Amino acid sequence: MTVTAGLDVSAQLDADRRTEVPRHVAVIMDGNGRWAAKRGLPRTEGHRAGVSALRRIVRHCADRGVACLTLFSFSSENWKRPAAEVGFLMGLLERFVRRDLAEIHRQNVRVRMIGEREGLDRKILDLIEEGEALTRDNTGMTLVVAFNYGARNELARAMRRMSEDIAAGRLSACDVTERRIESYLDTACLPDPDLIIRTSGEQRLSNFLLWQAAYAEFYFPDTHWPDFDEEALDDAFAAYAARDRRFGGLSAKVAR
Ligand code: FPP
Repeated sequence: MTVTAGLDVSAQLDADRRTEVPRHVAVIMDGNGRWAAKRGLPRTEGHRAGVSALRRIVRHCADRGVACLTLFSFSSENWKRPAAEVGFLMGLLERFVRRDLAEIHRQNVRVRMIGEREGLDRKILDLIEEGEALTRDNTGMTLVVAFNYGARNELARAMRRMSEDIAAGRLSACDVTERRIESYLDTACLPDPDLIIRTSGEQRLSNFLLWQAAYAEFYFPDTHWPDFDEEALDDAFAAYAARDRRFGGLSAKVAR
């Protein structure tokens, strides 16, 4: 802590805490539908407002020095929604990439998709891959878009590829370590999430980053996603900074 003469200590502590940002933040952007319903609007308006929130949060995370931000934008289970809503969400993603990619690139952000690519609409996939290629060499924050993503599906695909490598003799059973499994996941080479935020009051993971969340801290604000702003994110970071992360060991205070 840097103590500045004449400053109230609790204010200083608070300021220091607010500078401690998680390296990897992952967000379940929940509550678009409820936000819209509260205003007597169709659900699609909630999703539209959700994209505005997404823009704000990407910019704020990059400004605050977050290394990696993962956004759960469409789950492998979201196909169960009415076709019109699914089509609207696909259109939103398409428009988001078309309109925002240049700005994201300008912010030195690197884009990466996690989720099942097989079976996705070619046009959507081409756009995502164009975004990944354009931003590949950027050195700022990594924006991970979880799209057509489900953690069990990710694990099943990883196990399938690993089994193929074992059957072909490229890998032996004793090589199957935690590290090796991680290298087969969509999130290979990314740090595990430090903080997982789910907006709108629900307290569950809904098949999001099940392996990677082993030691994540959770934060469940009641705010619906479209209302989640820079201040709300700073509150989440402050709550995170106050947590005592032990990773199965002892608290630094106790261990001394
Ligand atoms: C959850 O709200 C939100 C989603 C299923 C989609 C999240 C999508 C966005 C924020 C916008 C899309 C952005 C891109 C780039 C694709 P919900 O519909 O489950 O809300 P509810 O629980 O209140 O009904």
